[in-house]
Amino acid sequence: MPSYESQHKKGKLHAEERLRLLFDGGIYKELITEKARDGVYICEGVVCGVPVVVAAQDFMFKGGSLGARHGANIAFALDLAIKRKCPFICINDSGGARIQEGVDALAAYGNIFFRHTKASGVVPQISIIDGPCAGGAAYSPGLTDFVFVVENLSYMFITGPSVVKSVTKEQVSTENLGGAAVHASESGVAHFKNQNEKECFEQVRKLISLLPQNNRQKLGRQKKRSWMPPKIETVQIPKDRKKGYDVRNIIAGVFDEDSFLEIQSDFARSVVVGFAGLEGQTIGIVASQPLFMAGVLDCNSSDKAARFVRFCDAFNIPIVTFTDVTGFLPGTVQERMGIIRHGAKLLFAFSEATVPKINVILRKAYGGAYIAMNSKTLGADRVYAWPNAEVAVMGESGAVEILYAKEARPLPEGEKDAFLQKKAIEYRQQMMNCDRALKMGFVDEMIFPEQTREKLVHTMKGLLKKRRPFSSGKRHGCIPL
Ligand code: HXC
Repeated sequence: MPSYESQHKKGKLHAEERLRLLFDGGIYKELITEKARDGVYICEGVVCGVPVVVAAQDFMFKGGSLGARHGANIAFALDLAIKRKCPFICINDSGGARIQEGVDALAAYGNIFFRHTKASGVVPQISIIDGPCAGGAAYSPGLTDFVFVVENLSYMFITGPSVVKSVTKEQVSTENLGGAAVHASESGVAHFKNQNEKECFEQVRKLISLLPQNNRQKLGRQKKRSWMPPKIETVQIPKDRKKGYDVRNIIAGVFDEDSFLEIQSDFARSVVVGFAGLEGQTIGIVASQPLFMAGVLDCNSSDKAARFVRFCDAFNIPIVTFTDVTGFLPGTVQERMGIIRHGAKLLFAFSEATVPKINVILRKAYGGAYIAMNSKTLGADRVYAWPNAEVAVMGESGAVEILYAKEARPLPEGEKDAFLQKKAIEYRQQMMNCDRALKMGFVDEMIFPEQTREKLVHTMKGLLKKRRPFSSGKRHGCIPL
């Protein structure tokens, strides 16, 4: 039994212990002999019944640093995952480029980045950060689909605190610069944050259990998991149309019991994304979250949703959206951050996606944000709306300020408010409903909340026969970035 003491002293597990936590029954096969290992275990095994290829860095060997051989081993693992069409997982715990190997180490990173990009959209790629992941090395997880971090253990940054201090004079701790919380809630680099490594590997296993093995797994042919119906009493919204609520209660009441796995739960919280089962079939969910900033779309929530939609589309995962959105977040901050190009990503992602797409308008669907949230015009296959849903260009107060500005201007102060209020009521009655959208076919059907699951199950069954075009003849589009 090797000694893992130096790792344990740092509160970390050793690569071998991690592999045992990851694989079914703790069983795996090493594909590269100990002599050629060079600080990284390359293994195959089964995770929740799915074959996977794994690279696990051994910090006890030269700080897990990446030399030419080490890098070639990871590149081999990625090639193998592509060839076998199975998910790739990298467990990162490394001091980065092996300094004494110079440019050979840098080239080895280049080879890895190249393969991550080739594997993107072909097999799911997962990175687990179980220690340092610094410098350009951080771009390896940055190129993968899902990044897991562990509190007080993971840190990722392009330059560490000492370089930051010498270049910018800023003094910052490792944790504050690139700790788990920073990446899970602010940068959006991490998709899952866990308290310890054991919990982290349990969550990786849950994710693998929900994902298809590769992009060739056809719609409706993916392995179905066992499922239990949900308790639907949480499927409701407040009577007060201005009150917030937690959309995750609706997700919990519509999809299979306890099947929802939220992604980036602490980042850009005005939109919720994640996977859940619908009678055992994996569905990607994008939902407005009225609990945070009234479910508004801003730069980060647009990015978060767009990236998720593209993952689902690449891997044949049908998408269900729950819409309750008053618009894109206005203001100088967002405009200067580029809300136009960030919001455009979401429009692009939904327009491009050819997987089955169903939208349920829960309450408000206003303006450009309504169009961006999987509207009929962007190719949604079916759009449902709950009673009292409002499809409109904007809310009543904003609308009457613009429409009746000329008429209101000459009125004395007291009368002006009363006039605008009266107009707002009229506007609400005439415009803030679904009548026109139904007439024009932008909404297919009004449904009651308690019918939602049954409607989704039924509609999805039909849509799983949908034929998806493989290529439209162009190389690829140019998604705004
Ligand atoms: C060679 C390294 C190494 C590295 C660590 N070691 N990092 N050897 N190249 N990059 C060795 C140490 O010399 C030591 O060897 C052993 O690994 C354990 O390291 P410690 O420093 O004792 O561990 P710890 O105190 O836990 O500190 C971990 C650490 C620190 C914070 C990661 O080692 C560190 O700062 N390393 C350098 C990080 C770095 O700047 N990397 C280059 C990034 S640039 P002995 O023999 O004493 O046990 C980069 C470019 C990629 O990665 C570009 C891609 C395009």
